[in-house]
Amino acid sequence: MSDSTFEGQNVVVTGGGTGIGRASALEFARLGASAVIITGRRKDRLDEVAAEHPAIVPVVADVTTEDGAQAVVEAVQTRGGRLDVLVHNAGIYRQTPVDNPDLALSREMLETNVIGPVLLTARLLPLLASPGGSIVFTSSVAGHNPEPYASMYAVSKSGTHSLTRTWAKELASRGIRVNAVAPSAVRTEVYTANGLSTEEVDGLFKGFAAANPLGRTGEAEDVAPWITHLAAPSSSWVTGQIIVIDGGADLTAAADSPYSPYRGGSEGVSWGS
Ligand SMILES: NC(=O)c1ccc[n+]([C@@H]2O[C@H](COP(=O)([O-])OP(=O)(O)OC[C@H]3O[C@@H](n4cnc5c(N)ncnc54)[C@H](OP(=O)(O)O)[C@@H]3O)[C@@H](O)[C@H]2O)c1
Repeated sequence: MSDSTFEGQNVVVTGGGTGIGRASALEFARLGASAVIITGRRKDRLDEVAAEHPAIVPVVADVTTEDGAQAVVEAVQTRGGRLDVLVHNAGIYRQTPVDNPDLALSREMLETNVIGPVLLTARLLPLLASPGGSIVFTSSVAGHNPEPYASMYAVSKSGTHSLTRTWAKELASRGIRVNAVAPSAVRTEVYTANGLSTEEVDGLFKGFAAANPLGRTGEAEDVAPWITHLAAPSSSWVTGQIIVIDGGADLTAAADSPYSPYRGGSEGVSWGS
């Protein structure tokens, strides 16, 4: 892709203040987007990313609320009212063991990972280029290869798999494409946000790397170029696809392997092993 692939285009990346969303937003900006509107709840994190490129526009918006969706709509309207790319990336990860699920956290996860994108898509569709618009989800391998103790996360990500494929059919006649990336273990804040200590995450990622055919875990920068690639005009004949980005982990059913850090007893996981 050239540095002008997204020239003149407006992009929205939810959860753009950190991790995969931040790396994607910076990649869209590097590839010439006029405005990359990034959202999240923490203003300081959004501002940090905005300081890295003049095209980045920080908008504090909770993806689960009508007010949040409205704030994003207004940000697009301020920039000419046309949206070219919508990246549903904001997400949370929580463990919900079958014998001890936290229902409040389960609901929060579904609200953030599934209902939020449904709400935001509905509000932004009137502004999304038709034809030519593109929606990309950051889903997860958990959507089709779930890990023990995280069933509701898997439900939420199979939900995004389903939204991808259903909307691809529903919006094809309007010339709007819908695709997803499905990463496995990428070292971001999503794990510490789940309450794990740095040592626990170190142990978890050591296990992931050992079980990975390519011998390492992912970085946000491994995923971002696939998000921009799916959104780019050069992918204009690609829709309804879920691209796995995982160093080959999907080949090995890594979550079930003898090396998996997920092999715990009925009490759950031994994170540091
Ligand atoms: N890291 C992995 O191993 C991995 C693997 C597969 C899939 N994924 C998916 O990748 C996506 C990005 O996660 P990440 O790994 O980059 O972790 P991350 O750094 O924690 O990013 C998640 C982002 O979502 C935002 N967010 C969470 N709840 C929100 C809400 N209610 N409203 C608006 N923004 C919200 C967070 O910002 P605020 O907290 O400031 O709101 C944060 O910037 C997620 O959908 C995750 O499920 C991650």
